[in-house]
Amino acid sequence: MRKQTLDQLVACGEKIAMLTCYDATFAKVCAAAGVDILLVGDSLGMVLQGAENTLQVTMQDMIYHTRCVAAGAPQTLIMTDMPYGSYEHDKEDAYRNAQALLDAGADIVKIEGGALVETTRYLAERGIPVCAHLGFTPQSVQQLGGYKIQGKTDESAAKITQEASSMSAAGACMILFEMMPAALAGQITEKIKTPTIGIGAGVDCSGQVLVIQDLLGIYTGVAGKTPGDYKAPRFARNFLAGRDSIQQAIADYVQAVKQKTFPAAEHSY
Ligand code: KIV
Repeated sequence: MRKQTLDQLVACGEKIAMLTCYDATFAKVCAAAGVDILLVGDSLGMVLQGAENTLQVTMQDMIYHTRCVAAGAPQTLIMTDMPYGSYEHDKEDAYRNAQALLDAGADIVKIEGGALVETTRYLAERGIPVCAHLGFTPQSVQQLGGYKIQGKTDESAAKITQEASSMSAAGACMILFEMMPAALAGQITEKIKTPTIGIGAGVDCSGQVLVIQDLLGIYTGVAGKTPGDYKAPRFARNFLAGRDSIQQAIADYVQAVKQKTFPAAEHSY
């Protein structure tokens, strides 16, 4: 069986269910549960490596985990994050690193921020499918002053709208919106042709993504800090609660995305 392409997935008109994944066993379970796209996210810095943020994740880490996921789910689309420092400085560098991630098994690479329009164009023109991650961008957590909702002021909303249009025009195949008002993400999704994926961006995106540890309710914050001090983000929902299998929890997430019952207003801004 051939792997479905992103165009085929989008053409079927259903909401897209994306989930982070970092290893072969979970990749196999996610594929069996019907996840459309597996995101090898640099959130692995926190959930696998126990760090405070994503900034120390390397290209070697992303290549290794992409290989693991591709081995477990060879028929499922895979998106891999380009780690901090691997694409921002030089287009050629970005191309070489993106190609290495495709060679490891990724179908799409994800970069953060709206400033790299020329890099996106350069990669897209050379056949690299690029997703642009806008709104809250974890690799800029320090510049953004922490985990803060973006796009709340008219100025910030206009900036994100402009970035999404520019990235779409530059050839991005997907735009991912993190932690921004649902109404804004919905308006942009209506306006641009490129499919959008939301995390804390409301139900009107073309699809949704969650970090798998949040979906299973097992992430309790930075390793070494007291679990009781951790408060899960508003957009997270524990799909394992009340179910007796991980595969069922993931399958229910997929169905909730497709039926637009997740995210609900209580998960949105
Ligand atoms: O790294 C990651 O898991 C991500 C999600 C937060 C979308 O980029």
